[in-house]
Amino acid sequence: MILSIESSCDDSSIAITNIEDNKLIFHKKISQEKEHACYGGVVPELASRLHAIDLPNILEETKPYLNKLKAVAVTNQPGLGVTLLEGIAMAKTIAVVQDIPLLAVHHLKGHIYSLFIEKEAIVPLLVLLISGGHTQIIRVEGLEKMTILATSIDDSVGESFDKTAKMMGLGYPGGPIIEKLALNGDENRFKLPVPLRNSPLIAFSLSGLKNAVRLTIERLGGDEGMSHQDQCDLSASFQKAVKLHLIQKSKKVFATEPIKDFAIVGGSSANIYIRKAYEELCKEFGKTLHTAPLEYCSDNAAMIGRYAVEAFKKEMFIDPYQIDIVSNKKRQSGTEL
Ligand code: KG4
Ligand code: ZN
Repeated sequence: MILSIESSCDDSSIAITNIEDNKLIFHKKISQEKEHACYGGVVPELASRLHAIDLPNILEETKPYLNKLKAVAVTNQPGLGVTLLEGIAMAKTIAVVQDIPLLAVHHLKGHIYSLFIEKEAIVPLLVLLISGGHTQIIRVEGLEKMTILATSIDDSVGESFDKTAKMMGLGYPGGPIIEKLALNGDENRFKLPVPLRNSPLIAFSLSGLKNAVRLTIERLGGDEGMSHQDQCDLSASFQKAVKLHLIQKSKKVFATEPIKDFAIVGGSSANIYIRKAYEELCKEFGKTLHTAPLEYCSDNAAMIGRYAVEAFKKEMFIDPYQIDIVSNKKRQSGTEL
């Protein structure tokens, strides 16, 4: 079995995965959303302190499995430095004390492997990753060959949902709040710009849309001047603009990428409205759409464990005395993840 730890942002999570059949033996996640809600976003220092409390509490529950471990895995990039270090400290301690190998897992590769929890992996695969930190289309040809085909030049999709909710004086995370309000909204009431609509760039951009949302809120009298219907209509109009942007740029990638299997992963892939749009797009292009179960879209250790099973088989181990966080480099389109 492999014990995996995730602490890259505001979720403390530990999983235990069976190496032989990918079976998830144990999985627990403690989310800090409530603690960060009043700030409208994640406060790194607070997140790190909460991991220091929650991770050991979860680890306590894994005691029955500790003598069956063949390896321990931990997210070491990308993410918040101070929160990644909490998971890393725990993982390297287990590796040294139990004398088992350590695996360092790239969080975004973990999101991709959320598709394969308790399943066999599908490769090659085209993936749209939409999370709180990233918006990318990635060509996955193997564990070590993942190429970024398109990326955001500014904000990410999840971040734009969070900021839109924050500007309307709603809670955090914004994604589920906006999606729910949009169900009762008129998506055609506000004419928001579809980002990079007339640009040949195969890239994503969300900051201009965010600014248009801000100006609309100001015209409506600020967050306190908005009625509930205004909130619903703006949520729906915003979500529609995000969808049109994602679909337009994905079409450009689809036009040149023959890979038949396509997937959406990351926190924002839980959005049913966006999923539906991709179901139609995949039908049009003859592709098969894959998504992770809703519970594994946002950050979790089960996806880190699933990737770690593959990495274990390739013996991609790291010296516990050498493991460190990897600084967040902005990776360009055409480069490896
Ligand atoms: O993947 P994730 O848990 O963390 C990162 O790796 O960043 O993604 C969190 C993001 C948040 O920005 C949250 O607002 C967004 O996922 N999210 C959603 C939905 N549920 C979560 N965005 C749109 N619609 C949703 N239903
Ligand atoms: Zn994530």
